[in-house]
Amino acid sequence: MNVTVHGRTRHYRTVSFDARRNALRLIEQRLLPHQFKIVTTQNFRETARAIQDMVVRGAGAIGATAAYGLAQGTRAFRGASFEKFQQHVEQVYQTLKAARPTAVDPVNAMNQVRAAMNVGETVAEQQSLALAAAEKFADEDVAHCEAIGRHGAPLLRDGMRVLTHCNAGWLAFVDVGSATAPMYAAQVEGKKFHVFCDETRPRSQGATLTAWELAQQKISHDIIADNAAGHLMQRGEIDLVIVGSDRTLGRTGEVANKIGTYTKAVLAKRHGIPFYVAIPLSTIDWNLKAGTEIPIEERHAEEVLGSWGVNARGRRAYVRVANPGSSARNPSFDVTPPELITGIITPEGIFKPRELWKDRKRLGG
Ligand code: MRU
Repeated sequence: MNVTVHGRTRHYRTVSFDARRNALRLIEQRLLPHQFKIVTTQNFRETARAIQDMVVRGAGAIGATAAYGLAQGTRAFRGASFEKFQQHVEQVYQTLKAARPTAVDPVNAMNQVRAAMNVGETVAEQQSLALAAAEKFADEDVAHCEAIGRHGAPLLRDGMRVLTHCNAGWLAFVDVGSATAPMYAAQVEGKKFHVFCDETRPRSQGATLTAWELAQQKISHDIIADNAAGHLMQRGEIDLVIVGSDRTLGRTGEVANKIGTYTKAVLAKRHGIPFYVAIPLSTIDWNLKAGTEIPIEERHAEEVLGSWGVNARGRRAYVRVANPGSSARNPSFDVTPPELITGIITPEGIFKPRELWKDRKRLGG
């Protein structure tokens, strides 16, 4: 999407690859909205750390980062022994896979890269196929998000007030975003609507990233405290909910997304408000049989016990908010059951959650 910094507007992707330097270029998301900065990772371990530390985050964005990271690690191998090369590729794959457990996009993306590589008969051939496959994954991510926009835009009508949770915007993908794609497409059609961004504690991706994105795109919005949505729904001030997902089960239609999504889905059901989930095909897990099998990432307690922001000097800083000495639990995702979901917006159209399995051929299963 276009980013305007100090009066200059340029198009950026969240993740891109510098083939000459064998390095990834990432938007440093931990600094937003206060500073817009591109950082590079020079090897696959640095790339895995950038995923783990959330320099880059969001299902599609970490999917593309893992795909490029696998290509990066593969291309760094020196030697002709095919056996050693394969051991090295496995190590790169496992390192990137371990960086964050809940989103399935990194695994799906890397499996795509590995399948494409396997056609090559030499180390050099596989190295070049790996990069081509990673580029293809990134381009497909953009195309999928654009298609989600086309299918989702009719859900937005003039004057609507839409709630979204966390950041499933272009920063969470290579470009465009999933939950935001229908909004950006509706804006192009000239529709006027208002977005409520859940703050999304503990890391505040709604207050920092989604709000920044919408401001950049000049979409009317307010940030609300996570606990405010029920009140606004009760007063008839929310017409539609659109969220993203980090892993959607193709067999059951269960949706893992940022912690707090389940609560919003329960509230939406109670108030008769349509609740949609927007996903590219790389977010579908066709293997797991139940939401209870989804690995839920537990992050560091410090995220709950305090907050990150910028200090008076404009530097990123942490302040402790909670009672000193208290501990915290920090599950980062929850699972929303299919009966609370009105529809899943995919690049292939809108599906009832329980219909995904029936349509699995069309949906890449
Ligand atoms: O922990 P994050 O920021 O990587 O979480 C991902 C998310 O932003 C959300 O869960 C999002 O709604 C889905 S990712 C497209």
